[in-house]
Amino acid sequence: MDVERTTVTPAQDALGRRLHDLRISVTDKCNFRCPYCMPADRFHENYEFLKRSELLSFEEIVRIARAFAGLGVAKLRITGGEPLLRKGLADLVGMLRSIDGIEDVALTTNGVLLPEYAQMHANAGLQRITISLDSLDEEVFQVMSGGRGNVREVLDGIVAAEDAGLTPIKINAVIRRGVNDHTAIGLANHFYGSGHIVRFIEYMDVGNCNEWRKDEVVSSRELRDAIHAVHPLTPLDQNYAGEVAMRYAYEDGGGEVGFISSVTAPFCGGCTRARLSADGHVFTCLFASQGTGLRDAMRDGASDIELRDTIAGIWTQRTDRYSEERAGMTEAARTNHKVEMYHIGG
Ligand code: GTP
Ligand code: 5AD
Ligand code: SF4
Ligand code: SF4
Repeated sequence: MDVERTTVTPAQDALGRRLHDLRISVTDKCNFRCPYCMPADRFHENYEFLKRSELLSFEEIVRIARAFAGLGVAKLRITGGEPLLRKGLADLVGMLRSIDGIEDVALTTNGVLLPEYAQMHANAGLQRITISLDSLDEEVFQVMSGGRGNVREVLDGIVAAEDAGLTPIKINAVIRRGVNDHTAIGLANHFYGSGHIVRFIEYMDVGNCNEWRKDEVVSSRELRDAIHAVHPLTPLDQNYAGEVAMRYAYEDGGGEVGFISSVTAPFCGGCTRARLSADGHVFTCLFASQGTGLRDAMRDGASDIELRDTIAGIWTQRTDRYSEERAGMTEAARTNHKVEMYHIGG
């Protein structure tokens, strides 16, 4: 076996941050139209999503993931769009699990396809799952998801993930003031004592089409205080350095809840994540405006070592810290063309 390929050479960026996680988007399509991500008027029925030939094949994804593993990546997260729309995804899970150095393969989904696919993915080796659910109130849910899917379907998806043993499940809820903030406590109450972990995410200015306004952000502190008033909370240590969520335990044993505060308490200093789009671009920040394409080089015959060197070069030069810089940015700089969330999967 090629020794070069199995040796791990940890990559560090220009600010001393290690490369540790890779988030892999497998499709830019989604069966939801969350207005904060894929507004329905823009992503209409004639919208041209990536063509099949433009998507990385599973073999190409695995080659790239292997190159990342050689640079220190141990955690993979499969995202979309909605990743379960990609045909045969369980095969990819199995292929990713068998890469040397990969310890953790997780999936982020809106949940509605889980009754069909959860067991298959668990069997293929999926270790963890995160399900997005912004409200349990049907009307509010419809507004948050763009009128697609419904609460019942997502809850059925959660049950399917439980039945497949993909527990504890993380439930991600983006909170927007004036839209779903009044239902956040309902989410906390519903999953209290369930063994699952709700994480409230501050609404972020990702992409260019959600017309983000700072006054729609509900700070983690405000939410935490509101939940604490009902179920007293006590802080927990991080599970690992660079964890994005601040963790809390319910003092009376109801389990755990988390807060992701990318707007009010940015965590760029510990950012170890790279992102791969479905068409093979590597992005080093959720808010980047440009990625580096790997697909065409691979199709033109680049070797594994060349691939790894290219990725090492991208990471080594990285200086991104958008969320820390946001507060000092002009509106023009802040809204300068950014990659869309559905393209790199959050
Ligand atoms: P694990 O700790 O491995 O379970 O995953 P995670 O906490 O990274 O969870 P997940 O990938 O579900 O991230 C939750 C959400 O946090 C994402 O969907 C984003 O909205 C946000 N997030 C994750 N990583 C970053 C990041 O690097 N920068 C910013 N600004 N937000 C992030
Ligand atoms: N701000 C915060 N979170 C977002 N997500 C998508 N768009 C945004 C945004 N603008 C979340 C999704 C999902 C995860 C992948 O990212 O709801 O839980
Ligand atoms: Fe789809 Fe997730 Fe974007 Fe909603 S946030 S449109 S579920 S990719
Ligand atoms: Fe990392 Fe960019 Fe998020 Fe900062 S804003 S934590 S650099 S992805």
